[in-house]
Amino acid sequence: MVYENIVLIGFMGSGKTSVGKTLARYLHKDFVDVDSVIEKELNASINEIFKDKGEEYFRILEQKCINEITQKKGQVIATGGGLPIHSKISEKSLIVYIDADFDVILNRLSQKEHAKRPLLQDEERARGLYEQRIETYKELATLSVDANQKIQIFIHVIVDFILDQRIL
Ligand code: S3P
Repeated sequence: MVYENIVLIGFMGSGKTSVGKTLARYLHKDFVDVDSVIEKELNASINEIFKDKGEEYFRILEQKCINEITQKKGQVIATGGGLPIHSKISEKSLIVYIDADFDVILNRLSQKEHAKRPLLQDEERARGLYEQRIETYKELATLSVDANQKIQIFIHVIVDFILDQRIL
């Protein structure tokens, strides 16, 4: 299989953006963050989009955005935590699941990062979402990495795996 892009999936705050930036640097590829593209296009934060337009509208934007981004090849793409649940990702993507425990995520996120995420505000609901989603993340992934440790510890697992694959 020749993959066109590397797509990072995982729950909110699991570190997809940080991992994606580091990975792109190691692999000399472009890095694209779906949430940032949406925020730029609408000139609004994720919080504002959820508040003003609602989650359903955001999900439509996500699908449109990932379709457009994956028209290009050779990128590392970080997705929002709900994207693989609500949208279809091109089959030509190598999907990496950034797998961190819910409590690790909560403990690791700064207040500022926590506040940016509307679906993380109610802890019990967020825990429920996490439980609901993990099976789908695992099923979609070509590679799952234990992201409970520091990025420097597990980044090489991803890099080594990817270097063995054929990526355009
Ligand atoms: C969401 C995750 C967020 C963002 C939005 C919804 C989700 O991205 O897309 O707040 O449904 O899990 P991160 O995974 O980067 O936090």
